[in-house]
Amino acid sequence: MDHHPRIASDRVLNVTILPTAQEASAAVAEKILSAVRANPAAVLGLATGQTPRRVYAALLDAVAAGEISFADATTFNLDEYCGLPASHADSFAAYMYRELFGKADFRPARINLIDGAAADNEVEAARYARLLAEHPIDLQLLGIGTNGHIGFNEPGALPAGRVQTVKLSEETLLANQPTLIELKQVPAHAITMGIGDILAAREIVILATGPAKAEAVRRSLQETPDNACPASHLSTHSNVHWFLDEAAAGLLQR
Ligand code: GLP
Repeated sequence: MDHHPRIASDRVLNVTILPTAQEASAAVAEKILSAVRANPAAVLGLATGQTPRRVYAALLDAVAAGEISFADATTFNLDEYCGLPASHADSFAAYMYRELFGKADFRPARINLIDGAAADNEVEAARYARLLAEHPIDLQLLGIGTNGHIGFNEPGALPAGRVQTVKLSEETLLANQPTLIELKQVPAHAITMGIGDILAAREIVILATGPAKAEAVRRSLQETPDNACPASHLSTHSNVHWFLDEAAAGLLQR
């Protein structure tokens, strides 16, 4: 394990670099497991996309081995496409049940998901924001987009932003296209937790793997916070831990 404490704007950013995506994902899973072991009623912020899949698989290994229970945990997901009900295979809700919730003992009543089929997005955003205010997140898991987006906070998103409906960038529409199961194209809009919601978490664990994320990682860790790179605002948080594989760390000045 290659640990790189790094001073950025007078804060120490914990950056752990491991040789492979598998090892980086296992280290993130261990972080989540130890948080839930320490506090079974932990409130977890969860992410979707290809990157967290190995983390969820590792959590399920611990469930299968009887090493963990999520029965008292509460979850919040970062985002959801607009126009998709949870039953739609391409919804992030369906992804979460496939990759994690359907195979572990999370209680449905404690699984909080944005309703992509809400009649009124503003009402849904306010509902979700209220739930987040009632259950502050203890540990927020993040991935990162190739353009530095976190959740669906695209370049230009404001650091104080809260739950809101957003228009997805061309880069994101392109990047997410290959993940579609039934849809022909990625929905144009989504509801996402804002950067302000993410920064309100007590602890943030962000996982980036593969060379496609190297530039976003470099900008986030080695440049000053800038709205053009949403993940760069993470350096203002006092308890962030980056987990990278060598490929995603490839452009860091070390
Ligand atoms: C998706 C999600 C983000 C995710 C990012 C990277 O659109 N909204 O939460 O972190 O894009 O996804 P991946 O891990 O597949 O590269």
